[in-house]
Amino acid sequence: MSGSVEYRITHYDLVQGALEIQYIEEFFGEFPRKKTAAEIVRRLEGRAHLILLATAPLPDDPGSIVPVSFKVAHEIKVPETEPKLVDLVHRLGDYVTFQGRRVLYTWIGGTRRDWRGKGFFRALTEQQELWAIEQGFDEIVVKTKNKFYDMRGTLDHLRFEVVQYERYAADNAESKVYLSKKLMAEMISRHRSAKTVVQMPV
Ligand SMILES: CC(C)(COP(=O)(O)OP(=O)(O)OC[C@H]1O[C@@H](n2cnc3c(N)ncnc32)[C@H](O)[C@@H]1OP(=O)(O)O)[C@@H](O)C(=O)NCCC(=O)NCCS
Repeated sequence: MSGSVEYRITHYDLVQGALEIQYIEEFFGEFPRKKTAAEIVRRLEGRAHLILLATAPLPDDPGSIVPVSFKVAHEIKVPETEPKLVDLVHRLGDYVTFQGRRVLYTWIGGTRRDWRGKGFFRALTEQQELWAIEQGFDEIVVKTKNKFYDMRGTLDHLRFEVVQYERYAADNAESKVYLSKKLMAEMISRHRSAKTVVQMPV
């Protein structure tokens, strides 16, 4: 599908975007703790952030357009004040340079099961890179776990590099993997997904 399709991407503002993400997470069912809209607003408010959502027609009802894939990212800096982010920048400190650079952290994202493998996540990732480069970011970082094989495989295809691996002694499947992609303007010319991007609210 990738290459032959025009992906429809919506770039949301904070409040509406948080509600959309809460809604789409209901459909995933595979994550133990889904993010609420309030939690999303709390994390993103007051910092540079990007909420992207891809939509597609339902196969058996093409008139219905539904959200199928999403990606939420925000800037991380040194020093942070929120404990989770203090911890994150501390863990990344030896592998990612924050001084004098802008670093974007991909916090949450995924594609609804029935729409996987069709290029939606690549399209969102390419849009995220475009936005990040335009905003002057230098690097995108993301955290996953050994056991999230689909995500690891996908990040490999999207050319993220492992920068740190934290072994969880009791169960290696739970070990954390930190990945990064350095941003360069010329990357944009290598992007593959055709897309239309709508800003919400318009
Ligand atoms: C990982 C995930 C987001 C991929 O979304 P997707 O929309 O299916 O991804 P795409 O179709 O855009 O694929 C992007 C690239 O990754 C590759 N890819 C996708 N799924 C893959 C997999 N399971 N294994 C290896 N590569 C994979 C595709 O071939 C594509 O590469 P290409 O463009 O070079 O051909 C989706 O599988 C998902 O939501 N999984 C559950 C989320 C999760 O595990 N979260 C854990 C918390 S980090």
